[in-house]
Amino acid sequence: MKVVFVCLGNICRSPAAEGVFIDLLEKKNLTGSYVVDSAGTGSWHIGELPDARMREHAKERGIDLKSRSRQFKAEDFDHFDHIIVMDKSNEQNVKAMTNLTENHAKVRQMASFAKNHSEEEVPDPYYGGAAGFEKVLDLVTDGCEELLRELEEKRTKS
Ligand code: 4NP
Repeated sequence: MKVVFVCLGNICRSPAAEGVFIDLLEKKNLTGSYVVDSAGTGSWHIGELPDARMREHAKERGIDLKSRSRQFKAEDFDHFDHIIVMDKSNEQNVKAMTNLTENHAKVRQMASFAKNHSEEEVPDPYYGGAAGFEKVLDLVTDGCEELLRELEEKRTKS
């Protein structure tokens, strides 16, 4: 199973989702069954570590964010089974890179998996305060738990 999380800058939300998902896999001894990555639709932060504030908040939950920002590219549709976007703008931007229906079907909203949150998107925390970063972690943790449950159901049946 290959999963990529996508946001705008690939320095806040998608690295957090990637780190949370990897942490869940480790806790469940499933690391070897998944390839996990993240990417941004924008190019401003290519090569950078996640935002220091995002890393700090994740660290408080025992999660180290170590990814380096990269830009999402059309070939990612060939490589990944699941493309999990953080907001509707990310969804539009990645879908605009391909015309194939089977590719579009790989794209889903992170927040749609969250059982204990009613948000439709993971809000961009970049220009806000600490509460925004906590919100991202709460939402992506909720979403990643359900995403993994769903993917495990598929994987163990196939
Ligand atoms: P992210 O947050 O999409 O969650 O990584 C952002 C990071 C940087 C910018 C916007 C959003 N930016 O405009 O540089």
